[in-house]
Amino acid sequence: MSVLRLSRRTLIASALAAPFVTRLRAFAAEPKALVLPKLDEGRLVDGVREFDLTVALGKTEFLPGLLTDTVGINAPFLGPLVKLRAGEAVRLNVTSTLGQKIALHWHGLALPPAMDGGPHQAIGQNETWSPEFTVANRAGTYWFHAHAHGKTGLHVWGGMAGAIRVEDEEEAALPLPRTYGEDDFLLILQDRTFDDKGQMPYNLTVHDKMAGLQGDTMLVNGQIAPELRVTVPRIRLRILNGANGSIYRLHFADGRSFAQIASDGGLLAAPVQMTESWLAPGERGEYILDLSDGEATLLRAELFGAEAAVMGPVGIKDVLPIVPSGGQAPAPALPAILSNIAAPVETSADRPMVLSMSGEGMMGDLLINGAQYDHERIDFLAPAGATERWIFDNKTPMLHPMHIHGGQFRILTRNGAPPAPAEAGLKDVVLVHPDEKVEVAMTYPAQGDLSAPLMYHCHILEHEDAGMMGQFVVM
Ligand code: C2O
Ligand code: CU
Ligand code: CU
Repeated sequence: MSVLRLSRRTLIASALAAPFVTRLRAFAAEPKALVLPKLDEGRLVDGVREFDLTVALGKTEFLPGLLTDTVGINAPFLGPLVKLRAGEAVRLNVTSTLGQKIALHWHGLALPPAMDGGPHQAIGQNETWSPEFTVANRAGTYWFHAHAHGKTGLHVWGGMAGAIRVEDEEEAALPLPRTYGEDDFLLILQDRTFDDKGQMPYNLTVHDKMAGLQGDTMLVNGQIAPELRVTVPRIRLRILNGANGSIYRLHFADGRSFAQIASDGGLLAAPVQMTESWLAPGERGEYILDLSDGEATLLRAELFGAEAAVMGPVGIKDVLPIVPSGGQAPAPALPAILSNIAAPVETSADRPMVLSMSGEGMMGDLLINGAQYDHERIDFLAPAGATERWIFDNKTPMLHPMHIHGGQFRILTRNGAPPAPAEAGLKDVVLVHPDEKVEVAMTYPAQGDLSAPLMYHCHILEHEDAGMMGQFVVM
């Protein structure tokens, strides 16, 4: 229990500089139970699993007595956990009531390009966009988020994001925790800054545009300082870094180790024991945490911005106390093998992606292959179904989590060396450090579509919106 007292003290101490200290103090005295996003299983209509997702403005009481203007999907802030099954036909009816053009992208899903929800699939006020596709991904944790041209950072900051849980037979056959809300918990991690009226302004300074926008207050599923109480000896945490600009180094205050079982695109080959896990914006990890010692623990995050290589960490935040109720039984052993992940497919061509800046030092435009994003320019044509070797070559002094739409990739090398075990599975975001060269094998969608370009970009949303993005057409 000492961990909990410590965490409350730290929270109060770190709030001393804030204008609403008293409110936070009252707040921190009584930790509230973690609330999970509602599980949405959709409904079956003529063999198609159908979901309704309405994007709307909301008001959210993050701080007691203060209503914050937010954006949500079937909720005031964030959205439901959408449950999909591999191989199933789905239709997602996305309605916008935001009063401005939006787009909603299915991050990490392999689908026909026109269903991707990128900036070319804009949805107008009171319009409904209904993409349909067959779920082709492995079991895992994926997500959906705003992607309107130039507005991704603003909309996601407001709350326009949610998670997707894909299930399949391979994962279902393993002895792993998977009962949502009992031994399997989704944690959407974000950081925000609240002003003295409780609002979350999105006014970017020159520094925010370079570092990515970072807040001083952690949110877990849209809650400040919640607490997770569990009654089982081991739990599965599905963690999504849903931040705009923060890279998180996740670890426990007591230094305990845990096992990562899945990355962006599902199960790893085998569990990977670790005491810290790095998640950049857009990345997901699934972890098994052993609580059989009956001791409370505290999940913490050290925050880094894009300028971390020069500036170092921004700070360490308490994220979530995890409190097992007494009388813990021993935790069952994890399977030694999780999945037979085949070797990456031979690549048929090279796709150099040079990341650079136009100016000197930390100023100037962020460029991919010497260019900023142009909504009217297609950067290259990709052969349908082919696997190509993308070579991210970071010549900037910043960290860039690079993301490719249209499916999953495999990391081949990082500065010439093979990827660490936790990065050796399927990925859709890869963090590229300054002076690093990272090669990935990217498999394009099997179905071409000249009318629906796919994006690739830095997932620091302020970098993306500032033009660190390109687009390709599958043919
Ligand atoms: Cu998660 Cu184009 O993004
Ligand atoms: Cu994406
Ligand atoms: Cu970047």
